[in-house]
Amino acid sequence: MKQNLLYIKTIGCQMNHYDSERMAQMLAPLNYIPTDDLEQADLILLNTCAIRAKAEQKVFSFLGRLRRLKQENPNLIIGVAGCVAQQEGERILKRMPHIDLVFGTHALFRIPELISKVKAHRKRVCDTAFSDTLDEPDLAGAGTRRTTAFVTIMRGCNNFCTYCVVPYVRGREMSRAPNTVIREIRSLVRNGVREVTLLGQNVNSYGKKEGISCNFPELLSKANNIEGLERIRFTTSHPKDLSDDLIEAMAVLPKMCPHIHLPVQSGSDRILKRMNRGYTVENYLKKVSKLKRTVPHIAITSDIIVGFPGETEEDFEATLALVQEVDYENIFSFKYSDRPNAPSTKFRKKVSEEIKQRRLEHLQRLQERITCKKNNVLVGTTQEVLVEGFSKNTNSQLTGRTLCNKIINIDAMNSLAGQVVSVKVEKAYKHCLIGRVSKIDQVKTVH
Ligand code: SAH
Ligand code: SF4
Ligand code: F3S
Repeated sequence: MKQNLLYIKTIGCQMNHYDSERMAQMLAPLNYIPTDDLEQADLILLNTCAIRAKAEQKVFSFLGRLRRLKQENPNLIIGVAGCVAQQEGERILKRMPHIDLVFGTHALFRIPELISKVKAHRKRVCDTAFSDTLDEPDLAGAGTRRTTAFVTIMRGCNNFCTYCVVPYVRGREMSRAPNTVIREIRSLVRNGVREVTLLGQNVNSYGKKEGISCNFPELLSKANNIEGLERIRFTTSHPKDLSDDLIEAMAVLPKMCPHIHLPVQSGSDRILKRMNRGYTVENYLKKVSKLKRTVPHIAITSDIIVGFPGETEEDFEATLALVQEVDYENIFSFKYSDRPNAPSTKFRKKVSEEIKQRRLEHLQRLQERITCKKNNVLVGTTQEVLVEGFSKNTNSQLTGRTLCNKIINIDAMNSLAGQVVSVKVEKAYKHCLIGRVSKIDQVKTVH
């Protein structure tokens, strides 16, 4: 049978990257093999993100560029997946006649049938149906050899923060069974993976809806028992549901990395309420203190939105004060963006683009100072680093991450990919550290 070339472009969060890998795995039996060459592809899939207007614009500009390829090769199939596909559905087919297939976030696992349908009938297909169960096939372990991997443990979100599209485009929260998650991690480890990041919009409610008799800390404990796995991370933990059990698990399980992404979004109680976040600054700071007390050297990172409707200069000052008080390792900061479906789109007192930009820059400058200060403290220390491979920028340096998730580039001649090494930090920059290997730890192999 003729081999077909598959090109997948992914925009969006880690879960989208995970999903794109699943698509490639599911299409392998239909004789699709991955290519990096867009021009040669027989099937182009775009996995999309709707979180901010900018992400959505990226989708339509990429799709626009595909028009020429479709004209040159009418047999080319173009499919749109993910969150914009779910949000826009048929509208994409109407707006863009060169698109063959639109499939939403719950249709992901129907991709083989959908592609066959497009091919057999040469007709355009749209599938944005939601299902009540997670029909995630067992695709454990396939994929290329690498050191780190994502593992989705739950999908959807029930939190309805007023600015956010995720509950609308990903549907309600659903968890995967613990045994399938553990089987998948085991199989990744057999293929060379040493570090996994467990993914969910709010990992603290893992298994709650399904009544699974294994909560998130228990799942972590099971993962911790997997031989050959070196490190475990997770994202995201919603501050309102961060439990003492989870903090305890982070402190006692040896494979847990001392890093937590705990998005605060704003430092003003008034804005947090309008965002429907379900916590106050005081509750948040209490949890932060508990984390700092219980988990030695913990690195805390966050997401922050500036310019939410109604955000005053005073609210923004409160955000700056909170960032200073928590002393974040790093933050991701965003200008508020109106989204279809999101209730805040109808809120009054929108903040002008100019003010949003000014606040964003102000916040980023503050965080840069904090990050640089923290990175500088590491110079001269020895850090445990899991080496991921050669650095893309230099090709002569190796790159890896510290336990706290900082990128570190290492001057070293031979590839130590997949190994844990002790690295003496020599220089610190805004976005990375530079170091030299001082000791190569014992390599454990798994059979
Ligand atoms: N489930 C995660 C967030 C996933 S979305 C959590 O609750 O923490 C990633 C980040 O995008 C959010 O934390 C938020 O900071 C940002 N974001 C979401 N909707 C946005 C919007 N409408 N405008 C700007 N930023 C937004
Ligand atoms: Fe969006 Fe809030 Fe759910 Fe995060 S918790 S995905 S911000 S609705
Ligand atoms: Fe992720 Fe973007 Fe969807 S952040 S869940 S791909 S809207």
